[in-house]
Amino acid sequence: MALVTGAAGGIGAAIAADLHERGWHVVGADLRPAPPLGRHVVADIADEAAVATLVAGIAADEGRLDALICNAGIMIRKPVTALGLAEWNRVLATNLTSTFLLARAATPLLRAAKGAIVTIASTRARMSEADTEAYAASKGGLVALTHALSVSLGPEIRVNCISPGWIDTNGAALRPIDHAQHPAGRVGTPADIASMAAFLIGPESGFITGAEFVIDGGMTRKMIYEPD
Ligand SMILES: NC(=O)c1ccc[n+]([C@@H]2O[C@H](COP(=O)([O-])OP(=O)(O)OC[C@H]3O[C@@H](n4cnc5c(N)ncnc54)[C@H](O)[C@@H]3O)[C@@H](O)[C@H]2O)c1
Repeated sequence: MALVTGAAGGIGAAIAADLHERGWHVVGADLRPAPPLGRHVVADIADEAAVATLVAGIAADEGRLDALICNAGIMIRKPVTALGLAEWNRVLATNLTSTFLLARAATPLLRAAKGAIVTIASTRARMSEADTEAYAASKGGLVALTHALSVSLGPEIRVNCISPGWIDTNGAALRPIDHAQHPAGRVGTPADIASMAAFLIGPESGFITGAEFVIDGGMTRKMIYEPD
């Protein structure tokens, strides 16, 4: 039984569909409604009371929780001089604080099931474009929160992080150079992330915890200095 946040679209929907296909019972949570694969809950995962209700509902309805995939996230792109405190707080609450709230609420169920948590950070935890301060800070925090949780919640609960690079979630028209600039030769797909999430909550990854997996087609390994 797996809880996937941000399951109404993009990477979260792909993770939910992939887990469903692999035989997992999936509860999706999102601000938006979605066709349920197992059960879908409309909830704001940045809200403490909503998270408590979500997890209490799983305890009551499913009676167990084996995997928590903290995927929901937002980005606000704005020059730092124009970024309002409320906007900063919203990005941090959605991308970082939500994982604290979810992990805290779900720990008893995950402990009982000897389960696993997967957080979805970003290569932007380590590198940036301009005007993305709140997002980068939230994802850097999420990488650190992941290893902290892995130490605190082990040995019963394993906690790992996936940091995606460029993942095409909406079928945007991509240029040949968009693909070619990646050492792997292509932009990523939601399925690239879903398969790693499935591995990290499955029995084959039993000796892996506190780790960050960068899935970016090699972009963060590539020197980008202009040649002479
Ligand atoms: N797409 C990429 O290239 C990429 C790269 C690196 C990291 N990521 C990360 O992957 C995750 C998924 O990204 P995506 O591209 O699929 O995004 P997306 O915008 O397509 O989907 C995110 C989903 O999260 C939901 N959501 C947002 N705020 C929420 C809240 N407070 N409560 C509940 N649900 C909420 C949205 O409604 C949406 O369905 C995010 O954490 C994102 O930062 C994405």
